[in-house]
Amino acid sequence: MDPARVFGSPSPSPSLALSLYAAPFDGAHRSHAITVILPTICSLVALGLLLLGFYRCRRRNAARKIDESFKIPIKSDRPRQSSDTNNPDLRKSSSADHLNPPTPAIRVITHKEAQVFTYRELQFATNNFTPANVIGNGGFGSVYRSVLPDGRIVAIKQLDRGGKQGEHEFRVEVDLLSCLHSRYLLELIGYCADQDHRLLVYEYMSNGNLQEHLYSDGSQGNPPLLDWGTRLRIALDAAKGLEYLHERVTPPVIHRDFKASNILLDERFKAKVSDFGLAKLGSDKLNGEISTRVLGTTGYVAPEYALTGHLTTKSDVYSFGVVLLELLTGRVPVDMKRPPGQGVLVSWALPYLTDRERVSEVVDPFLEEQYSKKELVQVAAIAAMCVQSEADYRPLMTDVVQSLIPLVKQHTGARVTSSPNFHHHVVTVKSSSIDSGSSGTSLNSPRA
Ligand SMILES: Nc1ncnc2c1ncn2[C@@H]1O[C@H](COP(=O)(O)OP(=O)(O)OP(=O)(O)O)[C@@H](O)[C@H]1O
Ligand SMILES: [Mg+2]
Repeated sequence: MDPARVFGSPSPSPSLALSLYAAPFDGAHRSHAITVILPTICSLVALGLLLLGFYRCRRRNAARKIDESFKIPIKSDRPRQSSDTNNPDLRKSSSADHLNPPTPAIRVITHKEAQVFTYRELQFATNNFTPANVIGNGGFGSVYRSVLPDGRIVAIKQLDRGGKQGEHEFRVEVDLLSCLHSRYLLELIGYCADQDHRLLVYEYMSNGNLQEHLYSDGSQGNPPLLDWGTRLRIALDAAKGLEYLHERVTPPVIHRDFKASNILLDERFKAKVSDFGLAKLGSDKLNGEISTRVLGTTGYVAPEYALTGHLTTKSDVYSFGVVLLELLTGRVPVDMKRPPGQGVLVSWALPYLTDRERVSEVVDPFLEEQYSKKELVQVAAIAAMCVQSEADYRPLMTDVVQSLIPLVKQHTGARVTSSPNFHHHVVTVKSSSIDSGSSGTSLNSPRA
């Protein structure tokens, strides 16, 4: 018998056809089959719908949980046990949580939670914070080169400024860096919030910060000077860091304290952007502004932000332009000891940047003969666009990245002038590792 014709149905489902085929049919059996099979099918369909509804509901709840998990509570210090991560009693937040509300959630898909350290662990790692291990001092406190028990070399920053502001900066840094992952941003390994102690544990950048290289005399024992190709690559890496913050994250993150000392260099002079303590989440809207108290570092702050407190991603673009000018000229952003008219880097350099015949007059003398005129004109043009006073006319960081990529590609095998006694050892930069894409982070991927 053709099973397809049993109920006059043109196309029964294969499973139904199979079960019907297995039974010998005649007229009496047919009505029996209808009364038995139809209710069964109906119940199966109803059950299926119920299960589908239940599954959708669970997925919605799970998605909500993932979203909420980006509001990371700062965990108070506690003895770490392998099984404690799921125990809510051991995840109590510190009193700091109540002083400062959590930073608004950032819509990235993944994040790697920062490790929580006890004060004792970090005391041990820094050899009781011995001054011999200090590698830098900033507004936040001292930074120590340290070795963790697992052998990892890290930089530990100890907050020595009490009060609400320091606490807030600490929190922002932990919240943001736990969510943002790009190879162009300094990685936060963990933190310690044990009683009054506030410490941040970062990956170690063996060549220190850009500022110390730019203003070194390059002599023995001092940071080596950077050549043209290396400077261009550092500019590109830093631009990609800002591009990631502005254009790969929603809402965009405005760094607010982008400057040469916050660009750190690894053993191959690859650059990463650091210090998010002052960062602000920008508006979702195109060119969205937020109003805020003016913070930042003299010489790097965009004029409209300094004057009105209105902050946009274009404020960071201005600061990037200042750093690009530092790379180009080897001059600090503000130096009032210079002759009249030369004290403020932007005001002094701007007229030269757009003059093809005179642009070479502002270039760092150390860079002589390392660049072509064409490259110089292009870099000067990018810098001029970034530092223009009208924020709307400044380029997006993506545009800056795209303009720098071809310039960087032309420089292969660049070298950094050696200085053997400097505590950061590696001085040769290989360009084989240049990657030409943009910051290119898929928000689904843990690292760019
Ligand atoms: N992860 C790190 N690896 C290596 N050196 C670091 C690291 N973090 C900071 N440093 C060094 O410590 C110095 C002090 O850093 P810190 O961020 O506290 O201050 P700053 O950037 O110089 O100034 P500010 O407080 O205004 O940001 C840096 O300039 C850098 O030389
Ligand atoms: Mg810093």
